[in-house]
Amino acid sequence: MRSYSLTAPAKINLYLEIIGDRPDNYHELAMVLQSISLADKIDIRSIGIETIVVRCDHPLVPPDASNIAYRAASLMSKQFPDVFARYGGIEITIDKHIPVAAGLAGGSTNAAAVLVGLDLMWELGLTHGELQELGAQLGSDVPFCIGGGTALATGRGEVLSPLPNLDHIYVVLAKYKSLSISTPWAYKTYRQQFGDTYVTDTESQENSRQRVHSGPMVSAIAHHNHTEIGKLLHNDLEKVALPEYPQLLKLREAFASQNVLGAMMSGSGPTMFALTESQSQAEEVEAAVKGKMADPDLEFWIAQFNSSGISIAH
Ligand code: C5P
Repeated sequence: MRSYSLTAPAKINLYLEIIGDRPDNYHELAMVLQSISLADKIDIRSIGIETIVVRCDHPLVPPDASNIAYRAASLMSKQFPDVFARYGGIEITIDKHIPVAAGLAGGSTNAAAVLVGLDLMWELGLTHGELQELGAQLGSDVPFCIGGGTALATGRGEVLSPLPNLDHIYVVLAKYKSLSISTPWAYKTYRQQFGDTYVTDTESQENSRQRVHSGPMVSAIAHHNHTEIGKLLHNDLEKVALPEYPQLLKLREAFASQNVLGAMMSGSGPTMFALTESQSQAEEVEAAVKGKMADPDLEFWIAQFNSSGISIAH
């Protein structure tokens, strides 16, 4: 086929612990990542000339090489130059629904869709591992976004252990339209403020990873204990984002005061989310928090946990 349409889901963090520094200047992490049904649609098409074109009508999504979806196509064209020459250029159209710079891996999941889409369109037959390796060259969350579902992520975020799927959990998301948080800022500020608590030697880092692997959040997921999952939500980056942006703390408190399993910021923020057991509960929570905050700058979404990552759109 000369074109593919793909669904690229967002992710939320159920757990994010910063363990320490890495020699590559990134952070050693232990995270639980969860795909959700809030998704972008990515169309990929072969075009006559050997070039890469990105189209997106969202004002914050650049069409050039600074777009991670463009970089994904560029990486594939360099990795497989003969196939690129045979098939011609690549046109990528992004139908954006996931908020940008929001802690939901919106860019990473677009890049993951380009890798999966080109693997299909060019009939490369890459393995999941090969796609994940390419993804890791683009961003720490890209490998997870390819397969999605529920996973424990360590290393930079690219070392993945699948966890049992969590069905029937709903999520209400809220984000201030005018507020975005840069991921490098969040990690840099965390290092400045909490660097002295970092675990430095490799053995202690391994112990920290093991503690999460065999810890209460992973156990709660294994037992499908939704109440415990809600209670155990944890994100170290809240320690820098909430003091800097007090409106986020208020939003978190508004969510937590409702009938929810738990509430937390996703990734480096600023999206705040709450987990519920049903769609109707999610709708009630959305209406209550909307009423309480009464701020036209605040946008809401309702989604469901997703058991997969990139899929072909129907
Ligand atoms: O890998 P990605 O491009 O998504 O990372 C964005 C930024 O987040 C990095 O430049 C780095 O500042 C920070 N980061 C980090 N440690 C990680 C992942 C991301 O410090 N494990």
